[in-house]
Amino acid sequence: MTRTVPVPHGLPMERDAGPFDPPREISRLREARPVSPLVFPDGHEGWLVTGYDAVRRLMADTRFSSRQDIGVLHVPYETPGMPAATEPSPQVPGLFIAMDPPEHTRLRKRLTGAFTVRRMKQLEDHITDIVERQLDELARLTPPVDLVKEFALPVPSLVICELLGVPYADRENFQVNSAKFLVKDQSLEEKVAAYSALTTYLSELVTHKRAAPDEDILSDLARHDDLTIEELTGSAFLLLLAGHETTANMLALGTFALLEHPEQLAELRADPDLLPDAVEELMRYLSVVDILYRYATEDIELGGETIGKGSTVVVSMLAANHDPQRFDDPDTLDIHRKARGHLSFGHGIHQCLGQQLARIEMRAGFEGLLRRFPVLELAIPAGEVKLRTDMNIYGVHELPVTSSAEGQR
Ligand code: HEM
Repeated sequence: MTRTVPVPHGLPMERDAGPFDPPREISRLREARPVSPLVFPDGHEGWLVTGYDAVRRLMADTRFSSRQDIGVLHVPYETPGMPAATEPSPQVPGLFIAMDPPEHTRLRKRLTGAFTVRRMKQLEDHITDIVERQLDELARLTPPVDLVKEFALPVPSLVICELLGVPYADRENFQVNSAKFLVKDQSLEEKVAAYSALTTYLSELVTHKRAAPDEDILSDLARHDDLTIEELTGSAFLLLLAGHETTANMLALGTFALLEHPEQLAELRADPDLLPDAVEELMRYLSVVDILYRYATEDIELGGETIGKGSTVVVSMLAANHDPQRFDDPDTLDIHRKARGHLSFGHGIHQCLGQQLARIEMRAGFEGLLRRFPVLELAIPAGEVKLRTDMNIYGVHELPVTSSAEGQR
C-alpha cells in the first residue's frame, strides 16, 4: 500500500464514472489508502474511510461516536455557516440516530418491537394493497409520467404515514421540508427553517397523540410517560424522514438502473422469485445513503492508521459496497449475486431500524411495477436524467417514463 496518494481536499462527490459507480477518486483512494486523511473545505483535517473491512469495523466500534452522524439530517462540513466541530455535537432530543449509548439504547428499544420481522410480515398484504392502488393511479395517467412523483415517493410516504399515524393529507409539509433539509449546500438558515417547520408540525401531532392515543407507532411511543414531548418530536422526525426519503430513492434509482440493464430486467419480469436477491443487489450497487459521519472519542487504530481523538470521520458506504476485496466485479449490477453482507442499511448498533419494512416495500414496489407495466421505457435519454448529486440521499430528481399498462392485476 502506498502512502504517496494525494490527500483529498473536500469530499470527491462528482459522479464522473457514471450514475451508479463511485466517483473515480473515491475508488482510487480505496485501492491506495482505504483509511485516508481528508482536508475539509474549512481547512481542518479529518479522515475518509472507503474500504469494506475498515468501514465494517468502524461501524461496529462504539468508540466512534454517532454524535457527528447527523448524516441524513445535517452534514456539518457541507452546510455553509456551520462552524467546524471540535467536540461531539449537542444532542437533539429524540434523534437517536445521532446519539450514543446509553441514550441511544433507551430510545431505540422503545421502537424495536414495532419494527420486528414478524410485525412487518403481518403488514405485507397491506403494503401490497398500497402499492397496487398507487399503480392504479399511475395507469390512469397519460404518459410520459414522472415515476418519482407518481410512484416512488407516494408509496413509502403512504406507508410510513399510516404506520406512524401522520395524516397523509399533510404530506406537503413534510415532503417539501424534508427535501429542503437534504439539499447539501442549503444555507444554515434555510435548513433551520425547514427543520423548525417540520418539528412544529410534529410537536403538535405528538402532543395530540399523548392526550388521545390511537392505534399507531407514535401513539404507542406517546404512551411512554418517560419520553418528553421533545423526545417524541425528535423520534417522529427521524422516523418520518428516514421512512420515506430513503425507500423512495431506492425505488426510483433502482428502476432507472434496471432500465439501463434490460436483460436483467427481462429476467426479473419472467421470474419474480429473483426479486429478493435483486433487491439486495440493488441496495448494494446503488447505496443511496452513501455518506455517514462519526467522531473518534479516543485514538483508534483502523486499517493501519491512527485516527486521533477528536477527529471527524467520513464513511463512504458506496465505496465499501463496491470494494473488489469483498465483492467480485463490484461495479457490475448482477441480480444473481448474493449481495447480503452489503452495508447499505449500516452496521452495528445504529443498523437501520426500518430495514425489514424497506425490503417489503421494495419487493412489492418493483414486483407490482414490472407486472403492471410490461413495457416501461425512459421518456428521455439516460444522460438527461437529473441525478441527486446535490442531495444527501442519492437518487434521481425525476424519472420520466412511458409505459403500456396491462390494465389488470
Ligand atoms: C438508520 C439506510 C429505510 C428508519 C439507517 C442507517 C442507514 C439506513 C445506512 C444507519 C445510519 C447510521 O449508522 O448512522 C436506509 C435505507 C433505507 C432505509 C437505504 C431504504 C431503502 C428506512 C425505513 C425506516 C428507517 C423505511 C422506517 C422508519 C431508520 C432509523 C434509523 C435508520 C430510525 C436509526 C437507527 C439507529 O440510530 O439506531 N438507515 N434506511 N429506515 N433507519 Fe433506515
